[in-house]
Amino acid sequence: MSDPVTIVEVGPRDGLQNEREPIAVAVKIELVNRLAACGLSFVEAGSFVSPKWVPQMAGSAEVMAGITRRPGTEYPVLTPNIKGYEAAKEAGADIVAVFGAASESFSQKNINCSIAESIERFLPVIEAAKADGKRVRAYVSCVLGCPYEGEVAVREVVRVSSALYEAGCYEISLGDTIGVGTPEKARAMFKAVADAVPAPALACHFHDTYGQALANVFACMEEGARVVDASVSGLGGCPYARGATGNVATEDVVYMLGGMGCETGVDLDALMEVSRWISAQLGREVGSKVTRARTG
Ligand code: HMG
Ligand code: MG
Repeated sequence: MSDPVTIVEVGPRDGLQNEREPIAVAVKIELVNRLAACGLSFVEAGSFVSPKWVPQMAGSAEVMAGITRRPGTEYPVLTPNIKGYEAAKEAGADIVAVFGAASESFSQKNINCSIAESIERFLPVIEAAKADGKRVRAYVSCVLGCPYEGEVAVREVVRVSSALYEAGCYEISLGDTIGVGTPEKARAMFKAVADAVPAPALACHFHDTYGQALANVFACMEEGARVVDASVSGLGGCPYARGATGNVATEDVVYMLGGMGCETGVDLDALMEVSRWISAQLGREVGSKVTRARTG
């Protein structure tokens, strides 16, 4: 359990995409730069989706143009289709992420197509990325429950994850979009997917709506998970999953991993500073228990 863990910081994308008030591009750029300076090796910087669907991500090309790339940090962005891929490429992205779901209803609500159609749309993205020497990550949403359908069968999670891995995605991020999962369910789901896709190619992506995210991360780590998605200050939520709150807070993950002797390369004090700063910028309470405990 004490081998190194990679954290994928999703705050600038998953954390901000649901904010109602427009956030200045300069703030987004500063957030990405400050997170990278904490030693994070992956900072998801934006999303090339329709601005009609997710207005907050409209400035992603400007964000990509404005950041100072730190050696050792990658800046993935979301791309739902080839149009998004072309824009991400133009903006200089080296890693793009496609995003599908294990639930038909969520797929329709989130990206306006069925699961099968989504995979068809992702194939040209994966092909183009391969030709351009870029890497493709994939998300699978609703792995432990769907806001529209309730329970989601683990076999669907395995099916969609395997399809995306076999199509050429280097990593499959398993998303508990609405944060309803509990540790033993998370463990069983992760184990089932890891029977079909190598565990090192899996990431866990837990939203903390029900306060289970950190426990779920730990359960998946016991099954071999070594890549964890997290959001500074626990910011965020998905615009197409009403009521879903942010991801597990990055500071809380870093603190837990530190206690387990797992190397992350992340400077916790610096990260807590970023958490306080972005929370103040957004007029929100800090969402990390660790940062709250160490403030004031
Ligand atoms: P659509 O309406 O079916 O698309 O939307 P379309 O191909 O018919 O095009 C309609 C319009 O959108 C056209 O413009 C296109 O040009 C434009 P118009 O002619 O009307 O002016 N368009 C685009 N514009 C910019 N960038 C693009 C793009 N593609 C088409 N890439 C689409 C389909 C996928 C575009 C839409 O449904 C969409 O953008 N959805 C995004 C939803 C989203 O971003 N959700 C949040 C991220 S997922 C998430 O948070 C979950 C995750 O964190 C994991 C977890 O927690 O589970 C990843
Ligand atoms: Mg998410």
